[in-house]
Amino acid sequence: MNNFEFYNPTKLLFGENQIQQLANLIPASEKVMILYGGDFVLSKNGIMEQVRKALHKHDIVEFGGIVANPDYDSCVAATEKIHKEKVTFLLAVGGGSVLDATKFTALMAAKENNITDAWQELLEEGKYHLCKTAMPLASIMTLPATGSEMNANFVISRRSIQKKRDGNLSLIYPQFSILDPTLTYTLPKKQVANGIVDAFIHVIEQYLTRNEQAKVQDEWSEGLLRVLIEEGARVFEGDNLTNYNCRANIMYAATMALNGFIATGVLQDWSTHMLGHELTASSGLDHGVTLSILLPANLKVNFEHKKEKLAQLASRVFKIEKPTQEEQAKAAITALEDFFRSLQMPCSFKEANIDASHVAKCVQSLEENGLTSLSENQFGIATAQKIYETAL
Ligand code: NZQ
Ligand code: ZN
Repeated sequence: MNNFEFYNPTKLLFGENQIQQLANLIPASEKVMILYGGDFVLSKNGIMEQVRKALHKHDIVEFGGIVANPDYDSCVAATEKIHKEKVTFLLAVGGGSVLDATKFTALMAAKENNITDAWQELLEEGKYHLCKTAMPLASIMTLPATGSEMNANFVISRRSIQKKRDGNLSLIYPQFSILDPTLTYTLPKKQVANGIVDAFIHVIEQYLTRNEQAKVQDEWSEGLLRVLIEEGARVFEGDNLTNYNCRANIMYAATMALNGFIATGVLQDWSTHMLGHELTASSGLDHGVTLSILLPANLKVNFEHKKEKLAQLASRVFKIEKPTQEEQAKAAITALEDFFRSLQMPCSFKEANIDASHVAKCVQSLEENGLTSLSENQFGIATAQKIYETAL
């Protein structure tokens, strides 16, 4: 096990009706901006009404229209409104996209950071870590997937130039996040499946590297993977889409998958995510879909590096035993594909109805972005291209 430091300041409030605690969590003196996406917050499940009611003594303004794979332009517009309205606290209500846009806006809108062109300065030049401060922010997370509710990551897209960039800075941990599983009942099945796959692959990116004798982290990861497989199957059976405990287990697993715990003291990969971000920028596919397409191909191409942990995954998570490590590792990849397909998630470009023209675009963009050393094994562009081609 490697040396590590662990820090996570986000307070979690988990369970039904936790929204009622909002007024106690945000000081009455704060002017609050509620950031959200589209319809579902406003109408489908009455979240906005609950939030407005809980904050009726606060001075609030609202900022809607943040789309999936949040666009930089929304952060610019939100920043202008924050300055105009003298907002002092940001509350994200929605999925990872709304929360990521809120985190990036919290950096842009903090005047002490002296930012003139945030895309260029913070993302193209990668200087977001030089920000001195961020506006305070918190979330009501409605989509178990990204773990954004308890981490310091953001992923921002810019459609006008087909780019998607990410970053991580401890200034932007949410102060608190409210996780109410009943708020996830309205999710379309496609988003439920996207979220399960995203959380699952977050665990894989931190677990499936080399054997580091990190038993605590391995057991945590394997437990999360088993829960996501079991509850992922269960949620689509009968009337389980509104089964509280099923939704609660998926929700908590997604948070624990990317809040830093299982990353302590181990190598991390993240190459499937980096390749996936390029594929979203090029094709517009959902984040989870790019991952289910690219993970099996990535594991096939990097099989030699991964086979020891793949064999462990087969045995401890999928309960598969084969005579040799090689066969067992291969069986793990097949089991992964079966799991993704059981959730109606594609495992190839063909299954996702996209053509091979995206390969060249993604490879070129990886190169332009300087993403030429990926995973714990630092593979380069030629291997990245092979992964995309294997996924065709
Ligand atoms: O458009 P609205 O009305 O907001 O509806 C959303 C959106 O269309 C809808 N939705 C959310 N909660 C709902 C709901 N519909 C009904 N009922 C609910 N309870 O779902 C759609 C998708 O939402 P989105 O926020 O885009 O999904 P997700 O949470 O999967 O976030 C994806 C984004 O997060 C980034 C991805 O790259 C992508 O940009 N990621 C962020 C990470 C992080 N911050 O740590 C890590 C991840 O690996 C990921 O890269
Ligand atoms: Zn992800």
